[in-house]
Amino acid sequence: MHSPEDGKKHKTRRNFLGQALTAAGTAIAAPSLLNQATAAQTEKPAPGQGELSVSLNINGKQQTLAIEPRVTLLDTLRERLGLTGSKKGCDHGQCGACTVLVDGQRIYSCLALAVMQEGKQIVTVEGLAKGDVLHPVQTAFIENDGLQCGYCTPGQICASVALLDEVKRGCASAVTVDLTKPQLMNLSEAEIKERLSGNLCRCSAYNGIVAAVQQATGQTPPSPAAAMLVREAGVPA
Ligand code: FES
Ligand code: FES
Repeated sequence: MHSPEDGKKHKTRRNFLGQALTAAGTAIAAPSLLNQATAAQTEKPAPGQGELSVSLNINGKQQTLAIEPRVTLLDTLRERLGLTGSKKGCDHGQCGACTVLVDGQRIYSCLALAVMQEGKQIVTVEGLAKGDVLHPVQTAFIENDGLQCGYCTPGQICASVALLDEVKRGCASAVTVDLTKPQLMNLSEAEIKERLSGNLCRCSAYNGIVAAVQQATGQTPPSPAAAMLVREAGVPA
């Protein structure tokens, strides 16, 4: 039989246990809540061991990340930022599936370290459209069947956007005939193929890709090869 004194002791013990558990729960929860609040305030994840804090401008948005110096731009885009438009084909600088624009120049993002891109403007295929309005090169790829499986397409499109800009700036290619003034309107099929030779397509959708670039340069018809296919199919051009 319990005396009133025992009940008091029980209550006290229960209260003590309850208070101890509450305190322990608060102690466990407090640091993580504090961490969340701090992260939300600063949006700067603290670098872990071997990591560096890097601020990258991607598609016009500044983002700060803690990453190891060995991480490529491609892996940062795909694995850390969810920008999976840029594809990993070879991861060796051989296929061009990972092509992005950095300060307007096309690069293989699988060969670029993310930590070296601070202060530069990075544009991926996700950043080419303006809201719902596609970039003219994207539209040209759709209208000329410049793709089959689509795996190489983001790289092809980024490379084509850079190609147009390079011609406008007067950059010559290995097959440019008149080195003094390469012109978009005079860009031959051979020129386009040469200038896109760093981007491979396993589906071999090259006719459509060339036609898309021709359309983007303002040329018509899009492609002699495409026109030939249309003729062979008996479809009015
Ligand atoms: S994945 Fe970068 S060149 Fe192939
Ligand atoms: S469309 Fe399939 S790899 Fe180019």
